[in-house]
Amino acid sequence: MTLNDETRQQLIEAAVQARRWAYVHYSKYAVGAALLTASGLVYDGVNIENAAYPTTICAERVAVFKAVSEGERSFQAIAVVTENGGSPCGSCRQVLAEFGLDTLVIVADQDGKVTFEVTVGELLPGAFTPGYLKSEF
Ligand code: THU
Repeated sequence: MTLNDETRQQLIEAAVQARRWAYVHYSKYAVGAALLTASGLVYDGVNIENAAYPTTICAERVAVFKAVSEGERSFQAIAVVTENGGSPCGSCRQVLAEFGLDTLVIVADQDGKVTFEVTVGELLPGAFTPGYLKSEF
């Protein structure tokens, strides 16, 4: 999946803006995500922490769940913004892999500077995908 420069910048900017709403009472590590659907819509997400720490959910999964809960299942790219260009966690990689290994993952810092850009398949080699459970959809 390739993105043009303007679309890439818009997606990163959406993640930068969303990041302001991160609920990071405990870690203070705010994450913003912006997910671009195949149909051209953008769903953003932030990490939402909880006093019962494991109940916390990451920004990437919030964005994916918002999109899927509105009927979207095909994605072009996701931008993820943190203060230092931190990489998506294993759970988020798995959730992204459910919806396609070709989705582009753009990781950037809080100034929007891209740290790296890879596909979900590159982030999660040997992923367990829906294909293992069903011969066809
Ligand atoms: N976090 C994310 O939002 N995405 C990731 O992929 C990595 C971690 C959040 C979870 C938690 O609120 C904070 O960053 C520190 O782990």
